[in-house]
Formats: sequence, C-alpha cells, structure tokens
Amino acid sequence: MSSIKYLSIFLLTLLSVGTIIEAAPSSGKRTRLPSFLKVCRRSDPQLNKCARNSLYALKDRLEYGIPELYIPPLEPLIIPEIKMNQDTGAVYLKSTYRNVELYGMSKFNIKSFNIDPSKMKFTTVMHFPNLTMNADYDIDGKIMMMPMEGSGQCNANFTDVTMTTVISGEREKKNGKTYLKVRDIKVNYKVDRVKIHLKNLFNGDKALGDRMNEFLNENWDSLSEELRPLLEKALSRVVRTSTDKLFKAYSYDDLLPR
Ligand SMILES: *[C@@H]1O[C@H](CO)[C@@H](O)[C@H](O)[C@H]1NC(C)=O
Ligand SMILES: *[C@@H]1O[C@H](CO)[C@@H](O)[C@H](O)[C@H]1NC(C)=O
Repeated sequence: MSSIKYLSIFLLTLLSVGTIIEAAPSSGKRTRLPSFLKVCRRSDPQLNKCARNSLYALKDRLEYGIPELYIPPLEPLIIPEIKMNQDTGAVYLKSTYRNVELYGMSKFNIKSFNIDPSKMKFTTVMHFPNLTMNADYDIDGKIMMMPMEGSGQCNANFTDVTMTTVISGEREKKNGKTYLKVRDIKVNYKVDRVKIHLKNLFNGDKALGDRMNEFLNENWDSLSEELRPLLEKALSRVVRTSTDKLFKAYSYDDLLPR
C-alpha cells in the first residue's frame, strides 16, 4: 500500500476559487499525479474531510503555483485581460482590465467541501479575508445616468469574500479509462466590503475623478449587483479553462480512486 495519497480533490477546490487560469505544465502529456498531492478515495466515509485536508496541505505551494496541477502562481494571480460589456440600463459600460494582479487568493479558509462521487458533483465554499486587485483599466460608458470614462491604473480591496463553486461533470470513456467531462460550472460570490480607486478618470480631471470614485464606493452594493451576472460568468469561464485541462490530463480514477 503506497503511503502516497494524491490529492486531487482540492484541485477542484482551487478551481472553485476561480484560481486556475492559464497554468499549463508545458504541453507534455502527464499520466501521473505529483506525489505531494494527497488523493482521497471515493469510498472514504470521511471523503469531504479528506479532501479538505488535502487542499490545506497544498496551501503553501500555491503562492508559487503548481504546474503539474495546472495551478498558476497565486501571489499574485495574473490575469492578462478581462473584458466586460455591460448594458443593464442602470449600467452601460464597456471596460477592459489588463495586467490584472490579484493578491490574497492563497490565503483562504475552506468553509465546506462536498463531493458526490457518483454524480461527479463538487461543491466548495471558500472564504478569503482580504483580496487586493491592481490593474490597468479602460472604461467608457454611463453609470446611473452619469458619463464615466478614463484609463489608467486601478486598485481595489475586497474584504471577506465568500465564493461558492459547483462543478458538475459526466462520465466519458477514453482509451478504456473513465474521465470526467465538465458539464457545468457555477461560481457565485459574496463580498462584504469593497474599496476601489480608479486613477486618471476623465483624462485626469481631479474633481470629477474624485467624485466618481466616491460615488462608486458609496454605491458599491447596487453596482455590484449590476455587475454580478457578468462577473460570475467571467469567473466560471476562468475556472472552466483549467478544470477542463485538469480532467483531460488525469482520469477520474486517478483523481478520485475507488
Ligand atoms: C490585505 O492584503 C494586502 C496584500 O496582500 C496586504 O498588503 C494588506 O496588509 C492586507 N490587509 C489586511 C487587513 O489584512
Ligand atoms: C487597499 O489596501 C492597501 C493596503 O492596505 C492600501 O494601500 C490601498 O490604499 C487600499 N486601496 C483602496 C482603494 O482603498
């Protein structure tokens, strides 16, 4: 009996974090999970607990990333570009964020981790005490009737972020092995407090820029609701990219042995 338990499930969790992006372990085919990964057995009566421990055991490595598991460095997590085109009446905005750096993703707590092996369903709830984002932004549009435009650097702090991720898969046979094919990923988040600052709004007009920043911070709750569908979709896309890679690289029996 090998004492090596690979971890696998946490991958899922990470995914759940919206964490895994383009991390590709150079395109070579891998067939074996890294030995530091503790794998949990499907039949383990304490499967959820095992998965949780496995994920916590990976925590220290996350800062620098785990290419074998398609997890990029998390401090910071770099997202080259996020584009959002929003038109909900109250918010009509085209915005692009480049060189997005996100700090704090590796400092999570797992609130719950539920695995339904037969349904291939993974649900995680994670808490991040403090996330910080820096990016180059470019915005043009209207927000609650007020014109808003500018480009420059932005900084945002998110306090007490809770993120729930549900990954549902289905079985797929390949070369005599069972793989999980991702059918659907849902990401949902809750943020307690947000502080945001956009530099150089309105071509650097300080009075207008200050007023807009103040407005954004005061009205964050309702704005955040306007942006939610888009953000959640963007997040699930990010998660999906990596999840797909992970489940293509390793069979379900490798990741979650019987
Ligand atoms: C939040 O995270 C940033 C960057 O990691 C750090 O500089 C800051 O001190 C943290 N704030 C709190 C309240 O933990
Ligand atoms: C975010 O937190 C950092 C570190 O605590 C601070 O320097 C920065 O001003 C904060 N940003 C905003 C928009 O409040």
